[in-house]
Amino acid sequence: MVISKLPRKSIAWRAFEDPCKVSTEGDSSLFFLIPLDLHPRSLQSCTNIVLIAMFWLIYLPHISDHPLIGSRRTKLFSDKSQNVMAAALAPSVGDGVCASMIEPQDYICEEHTVTTKDGYILSLQRMPSGLSGQAADKPPVLLQHGLIVDGVTWLMSLPDESLAFILADNGYDVWISNGRGTRFSRGHASIDPYDSAYWDWTWDELAAYDLPATFQYVHDQTGQNLHYVGHSQGTLIALAAFSQGKLLNMLRSAVLLCPVAYLNHLTSPFARGVVDLFVPEDLYWLGQHEFSLRGPVVNKLLEDICIMPGIDCSDLLTAITGPNCCLNSSRTKIFLDQSTATKNIIHLAQMVRTGTIAMYDYGNENDNMDHYGQPTPLVYNMTSIPNDLPLFLGYGGKDYLSDVRDVQVLLDNLKDHDGDKLVVQYTDEYAHADFILGVNANQIVYDPAIAFFKIN
Ligand SMILES: *[C@@H]1O[C@H](CO)[C@@H](O)[C@H](O)[C@H]1NC(C)=O
Ligand SMILES: *[C@@H]1O[C@H](CO)[C@@H](O)[C@H](O)[C@H]1NC(C)=O
Repeated sequence: MVISKLPRKSIAWRAFEDPCKVSTEGDSSLFFLIPLDLHPRSLQSCTNIVLIAMFWLIYLPHISDHPLIGSRRTKLFSDKSQNVMAAALAPSVGDGVCASMIEPQDYICEEHTVTTKDGYILSLQRMPSGLSGQAADKPPVLLQHGLIVDGVTWLMSLPDESLAFILADNGYDVWISNGRGTRFSRGHASIDPYDSAYWDWTWDELAAYDLPATFQYVHDQTGQNLHYVGHSQGTLIALAAFSQGKLLNMLRSAVLLCPVAYLNHLTSPFARGVVDLFVPEDLYWLGQHEFSLRGPVVNKLLEDICIMPGIDCSDLLTAITGPNCCLNSSRTKIFLDQSTATKNIIHLAQMVRTGTIAMYDYGNENDNMDHYGQPTPLVYNMTSIPNDLPLFLGYGGKDYLSDVRDVQVLLDNLKDHDGDKLVVQYTDEYAHADFILGVNANQIVYDPAIAFFKIN
């Protein structure tokens, strides 16, 4: 029984002492102070919070058998899957990506770091040669992962199935980036990741700071323009930057897998639940500015989604990404295990609700005015992506996140693109994770992508 374990008294006292500064660090029980039908956004003042806390203190002992709070809650991650997650596949932070994922496969690897203009210290791995040891004779390729994963994404399958190894064996100078907040990129010039200020960003900042810093670094190190491969959020930040004319002077071509510009047809029942129940907004309000599916408070809130009809949290990967056709399940256990900013999830939820690709909405005209000089957030104009930029878009018919209808809206935006500069590849049986982890992605996606690089 969940309720019986709650340290009710201590929380209540903290709430009474300083209701505006309740910290949920280390416990997940504050959630129960909020009646299910009273959304935090409707709470106008600290007085309300105290009243609600009192209400629950009196009411709580009587409802501990309530099915919503008690036995019907399913655990998001079974003990069995936790054990598997701890297995040898997971690189330990001390080791780094080169030492844990690349060098054991007998490939040469270099660790690099780059600092963004807003102080985040990002790790990058370079594979300067293939298995033969012969130095790359082709241009650099930057691999940019998606949401709540990191650069290890590109290295999780066998070398002949993983894009990073395949590109290195094909003579490309491979660079793997790791976005801010993920396990190997948690440094900052002045802010600690345990400080909520560290998590004050969304994909706007990934497009404005992380990507430009990384491009510039790879360009400076190699003296060459880059090919780019993005997956999911890695396509979103690239499209946003390209639409503003950024990065183009250092870019040869871009391969965008599971392109995300529009999200309002998102079919993942799990992600829909997160959006509809205002989960990220709740987390932010509770002071949880770091978002991780493994975090205790996140877990507690997500359990409400797992009891919704049609959502199977025993297979979270499918519930989030879609029915992937072609994964080897022995290699997907440590997927979706990285942190992002709760504010970033709020931003993505805004996209699901509005169907636009715009900057973060501060929710009121004054704050938007302060940030953008106008009452509504600035829109990223996809039609202003230069028509002669070589683009390869790969998308799948079973993808729950990059829905076919949303990709179609993006393609409509690109309708004036030069015909010989736009390659669109549709794979009916592929879902979101197949593009990076599919056992046949080497033939279905990577071979055509490499052919595209060769002519651009
Ligand atoms: C899945 O991966 C494991 C470990 O790499 C391998 O032993 C197994 O043969 C793979 N299974 C399939 C069906 O490819
Ligand atoms: C978007 O960009 C295109 C091309 O630069 C321009 O014609 C169009 O007016 C822009 N749309 C908006 C809403 O700014």
